Amino acid sequence: MNATKIRRAHPSEVEKLVEIAETTDYFKHDKTALELMRENLREYCSSDPRDAGVLVCEVGGDVVGFVSYWRLRSNVGVYFISWLAVRKDMQKRGVGRALIETLEAELSKFGARLLLVDTSGSSNWRPAVIARSFYTKLGFVPVALIPHFYWDGDSAVLFIKFLGRDCGARREVRGDARR
Ligand SMILES: CC(C)(COP(=O)(O)OP(=O)(O)OC[C@H]1O[C@@H](n2cnc3c(N)ncnc32)[C@H](O)[C@@H]1OP(=O)(O)O)[C@@H](O)C(=O)NCCC(=O)NCCS
Repeated sequence: MNATKIRRAHPSEVEKLVEIAETTDYFKHDKTALELMRENLREYCSSDPRDAGVLVCEVGGDVVGFVSYWRLRSNVGVYFISWLAVRKDMQKRGVGRALIETLEAELSKFGARLLLVDTSGSSNWRPAVIARSFYTKLGFVPVALIPHFYWDGDSAVLFIKFLGRDCGARREVRGDARR
């Protein structure tokens, strides 16, 4: 990849980020998700970074992907990844991995110990299969299948990752399942 830089997004970049999401097979037909994304990203960009934020990845000076997060207020050190997208022509070059790894390092500085993310559980929709294999590859562990989560008939898979503990999530999940 050309020179890559990951930094916090500016509120003026929100439209550009939604356009990036719109290039992806996952979001391109989902007007409801794109509208919610726009609303969330505006809010996160102007939040205290400990509470919520958006990181963007620039390659050769061009913004090509982003990830957003927010902190679950009822638990200590638990953050949700809310939106993630890499411009279609820049996928499969390590941008998504770089965004998530940088996010993990950033949130660790704020005392994050657990990351959660949900994604479509559809078994025959390729963008969902790709998203699930992406999170699995990055060490996230699927812990729940939630039926009718996005709308009737569209389930979500909830993934988790404990930070700073190799394979900890997988061990704990197996441990819980035995109890
Ligand atoms: C999911 C997404 C963010 C991945 O970003 P990316 O930059 O293409 O991913 P990377 O190149 O960093 O790949 C990281 C790993 O994911 C896996 N992966 C990524 N794209 C894949 C694909 N199309 N098929 C299979 N595995 C894939 C690879 O195994 C890769 O592992 P490696 O680093 O050992 O090669 C990107 O495909 C995307 O924007 N999708 C649409 C939006 C989306 O699905 N968001 C998440 C759900 S809300």
